[in-house]
Amino acid sequence: MGFTLYKEDPYLRENSRPLLRAPSFDPTTTPGPMLLRLLPCLLFGVSNTLAIIAPKVFIFTMFDLEANAWFGIPEFNVLEQNITVPGFSPLYPDAHCTSDGVVCLLTTGQAEINAAATISALVYSRTFNLTSTYFLVAGIAGINPKVTTIGSVTFARYAVQVALQYEIDAREIPAQFPTGYFPQGSTAPGQMPGSWDGTEHRAFLKGASAPSIVLCDTATSDVYWSGNLLGEAFENTTTIFTNGSATYCTTQQEDSATLGVLMRATMFHLVDFSRIIIMRSASDFDRPYPGQNGVANLLGDAPGINPSLLNLHLAGVKVIQGIVNEWDNKYAHGVQADNYIGDVFGSLGGEPDFGPGSIFKGSRITSWLYL
Ligand SMILES: *[C@@H]1O[C@H](CO)[C@@H](O)[C@H](O)[C@H]1NC(C)=O
Ligand SMILES: *[C@@H]1O[C@H](CO)[C@@H](O)[C@H](O)[C@H]1NC(C)=O
Ligand SMILES: *[C@@H]1O[C@H](CO)[C@@H](O)[C@H](O)[C@H]1NC(C)=O
Ligand SMILES: *[C@@H]1O[C@H](CO)[C@@H](O)[C@H](O)[C@H]1NC(C)=O
Repeated sequence: MGFTLYKEDPYLRENSRPLLRAPSFDPTTTPGPMLLRLLPCLLFGVSNTLAIIAPKVFIFTMFDLEANAWFGIPEFNVLEQNITVPGFSPLYPDAHCTSDGVVCLLTTGQAEINAAATISALVYSRTFNLTSTYFLVAGIAGINPKVTTIGSVTFARYAVQVALQYEIDAREIPAQFPTGYFPQGSTAPGQMPGSWDGTEHRAFLKGASAPSIVLCDTATSDVYWSGNLLGEAFENTTTIFTNGSATYCTTQQEDSATLGVLMRATMFHLVDFSRIIIMRSASDFDRPYPGQNGVANLLGDAPGINPSLLNLHLAGVKVIQGIVNEWDNKYAHGVQADNYIGDVFGSLGGEPDFGPGSIFKGSRITSWLYL
């Protein structure tokens, strides 16, 4: 697929301003009045008569600027239907869909708890049939300058929950430790974890349906870090947790949570774990340039924000059009991943190419939820 990504320039910054809207807070759609609105239905036994929407693509954004990148675009209008979903964020209570239901979008709210809660609410809502849906996580991210630069669009193969570790404050780090972070169940940085929680990382679809701009991997943490040492520490964590398979390049606060929920929903055949695309565009560096310090990197100018938001739409719309236009002859049936997909426990079957190996002896836990 051929298209050109935006780079930062003053013209673009000027012209991208209308995309940046303040979060709107509409009191009539916040979850507050939900109970009152449901009450008459409960009293009179009126069932939910909304047709079940079966989107071909569901776009996951994490905050308002990422969502706004998809509003007012020429290709499709996801504001033709607003569907309030119980369990969504108070700031973003609605899923948004085109009138034909082919493309939908939601906003999780930022960081791991919001992502897990919102995506759980979606997959168990019964408002949507998501069994054939492709999920496009479309967000901005910090970037490792060793891999690429701001404005780039990346597609991840692994999402690593890097901060799920022990931590010693910087002022109390033993002299022989290069960082205060070390894996759970280990005794020092650089060791394999002695115990796993299952959400540390996932491997999934290997760029099969995505334009290959940069294929590199993503690190999840609620903590927004900046600096050479933390950058290098989490680079090391990514290497250790994935047995050297993943390339640490983007940093964000949600993707392992989103994937953890989609993995569990896949066990009940509510979604398909091989239909997930993690697209993260680079808005800022995870560490300073030579001569700058970590705080200045974090709090200084962010010239990458606007191009990264514009590029989410530019690259993402190609992915969406590719899926929708070739639906019948290709994507409806799904893409067979040639790599392991799933969690460190092997819950979806197969042998993980990272961690200590499947705890289910390579077979899949089969569970059916009868709807
Ligand atoms: C959906 O909500 C947006 C605001 O979030 C609004 O602009 C749009 O008109 C709404 N669509 C419908 C069909 O009500
Ligand atoms: C969901 O969609 C699939 C096809 O994509 C269909 O086979 C299935 O019956 C649908 N499930 C429900 C509950 O409508
Ligand atoms: C990263 O790993 C390398 C190789 O093991 C080590 O030399 C370095 O000190 C580590 N860096 C940090 C910040 O942990
Ligand atoms: C990953 O590395 C650890 C430690 O070296 C090893 O025990 C484990 O078998 C490796 N896993 C895979 C899938 O190669």
